[in-house]
Amino acid sequence: MDVTEAKKDAGYRAADMVEDGMIVGLGTGSTVFFAMERLGQRIKNDGLKILGVPTSNQTAMRAEEYGIPLTSLSLHPVLDIAIDGADQVTPEKTMIKGRGAAHLREKIVASSAKKFVVVIDTAKEVTELSAAVPIEILPFAYGSVVEKLKAIGGDPIMRNGVKKDGPVISDNGNYVFDCAFKKITDAQALESKINEIPGVLENGIFAKMTDKTIVIVGGK
Ligand code: A5P
Repeated sequence: MDVTEAKKDAGYRAADMVEDGMIVGLGTGSTVFFAMERLGQRIKNDGLKILGVPTSNQTAMRAEEYGIPLTSLSLHPVLDIAIDGADQVTPEKTMIKGRGAAHLREKIVASSAKKFVVVIDTAKEVTELSAAVPIEILPFAYGSVVEKLKAIGGDPIMRNGVKKDGPVISDNGNYVFDCAFKKITDAQALESKINEIPGVLENGIFAKMTDKTIVIVGGK
């Protein structure tokens, strides 16, 4: 099975876990868009009734395209299920997310859901987390945050735009840095440590929701 087929398989299987009447967190990225495609089909063909909470502007646009009605966390603060992709996932179900700079809203949505379903292909399976950690940072604070990240062993690099000079600006109006660490031995501890720095809005380590996380690997 090639990567695209694997993503589709994982996305469609996750979408088939969604039941009538559910409030569904909609992640961001190429794999979860297959889940949304399938949800759109179920809405159109089977009359499935759901409401989605999108994690990015791109996901909100895709939802419109697929005919998935949207709601907000203020109207629905508790979600039945959240479906999302990931960049690296360990057997313990800790992960790194944020390739698309959507991890701040993704973590808020996942933390508000009863179940967190993560859809990946086999290329995302790792024995330990090693990718640079995406970190969303308040622009006012970035200089001081960079120093503090270096002090805890990080190597933060500003994420720059493609076809846009200068920094990537997140959907929330902030900067994103990718911060490599020599070795991530305790993902939960590192997740907390990064978020303790004033000016950090969120980082892409997801290590505290493993109890409610279900990982679907396409083709497996
Ligand atoms: C968005 O910021 C990310 O967290 C994505 O969810 C993650 O990168 C997975 O994306 P793909 O499914 O496109 O690999």
